[in-house]
Amino acid sequence: MAFAYRNGTLCAEQVPLEDIARRFGTPCYVYSRAAIEGAYGEFAQALHGRDAMLCYSVKANSNLAVLALLARLGAGFDIVSGGELARVLAAGGDPRKILFSGVGKTKDEIRLALEKNIYCINLESAAELERVAAVARELGRRAPVAFRVNPDVDARTHPYISTGLRENKFGVAHRDAERLYAKAAAMPALEVIGIGCHIGSQLVDPAPLAAAVERLAALAGRIEAAGIRLRHLDLGGGIGIRYRDETPRPVREFVAGALAALGDRRGSVIFDPGRSMVGNAGVLLTRVEYVKPGEPRNFLVVDAAMNDLVRPALYDAWHEVRTVREPESGAPGTVYDIVGPICETGDFLAKDRALTAREGDLLAVMSSGAYAMSMASNYNSRPRAAEVMVQGRAAELVRARESAEQLFALERIPG
Ligand code: LLP
Repeated sequence: MAFAYRNGTLCAEQVPLEDIARRFGTPCYVYSRAAIEGAYGEFAQALHGRDAMLCYSVKANSNLAVLALLARLGAGFDIVSGGELARVLAAGGDPRKILFSGVGKTKDEIRLALEKNIYCINLESAAELERVAAVARELGRRAPVAFRVNPDVDARTHPYISTGLRENKFGVAHRDAERLYAKAAAMPALEVIGIGCHIGSQLVDPAPLAAAVERLAALAGRIEAAGIRLRHLDLGGGIGIRYRDETPRPVREFVAGALAALGDRRGSVIFDPGRSMVGNAGVLLTRVEYVKPGEPRNFLVVDAAMNDLVRPALYDAWHEVRTVREPESGAPGTVYDIVGPICETGDFLAKDRALTAREGDLLAVMSSGAYAMSMASNYNSRPRAAEVMVQGRAAELVRARESAEQLFALERIPG
């Protein structure tokens, strides 16, 4: 267990979170290196013996230390912007293992991707096909491409993170795919190398993924029958984690289900998981500023806020909150809403939690390794929190807390 009580206090691996708060201040994200290694290892193990590429989805947590760790473990990367490309390269990621997804790639981003020789650009529209070909021609190169196909399956997850339905903006329509492949294959500036899908995030059941893969494999078969060779099938990410009482099937079952749905199809497969690599490898450590009892609600006002973790406000997501001091067994606690200092009613981290906490106490908001810091903002001119990586008994700052001056360093008052 990456985060567990030892001698009455919550620790990240062997390091008490109290020590981290003392050294680096709060709020602060704390990541366990062993947990990331473990999650990567589980996935890699599930793919053992298969021609496969594991492309970590950078949007989940893009800290350079996280990227460098995964690069050293052998991961490739799924990126969605020029910014993420720059991060991966700065962290020592191999461009030959980078997939570039996203519906809105600019010409500059496409140019940069081609100049850096990334593995594949995932096309998400007919217009993008033309644009990538034009940029490749300008550069005198061939662009390696795949289409992200929208398989039109219901991932049965939160509507905001479901991406594989016909009504979603992602990918090209299943019924248009063969026509687009024929078109792409006829363009000398493009090298068609694969096909992909991604149906949504926080999946707990492998069945929708397997259904999508089955549809994708059938489509790939038809495209190949038309004489277009596909080197890889990209099956996306989306494997869920436990936040509360969800019981996502183990990664190996998702992988096994997807591979079984491929039937006897050989060739390379790609997965691009984000959350399942890092989600439960991190916590957001925060301090209680005020205890504010009231009718009908009691509040704990803490020093972290929706700008540090927007998931509760945005998706009504549930994150476990633990007191860093181990609760006495059987102590009933008081029911609190845990809220930040931001001037929004939506600024809450958790609601209706029974806790025993006093002013100055530390709380850990669990499962904050994914889509926490990477979605953080500076709303209310709040400097973004520090990030710390723990390995065994050692804790190291991997991103300094922002200063107030940094928040407006790029601004100018006109003369
Ligand atoms: N591949 C593609 C093409 C994606 O769009 C995504 C996520 C992933 C992979 C990684 O999915 P994962 O394995 O992390 O589920 N902010 C939301 C999640 C948005 C996911 C967007 N796309 C949240 O906090 O729940």
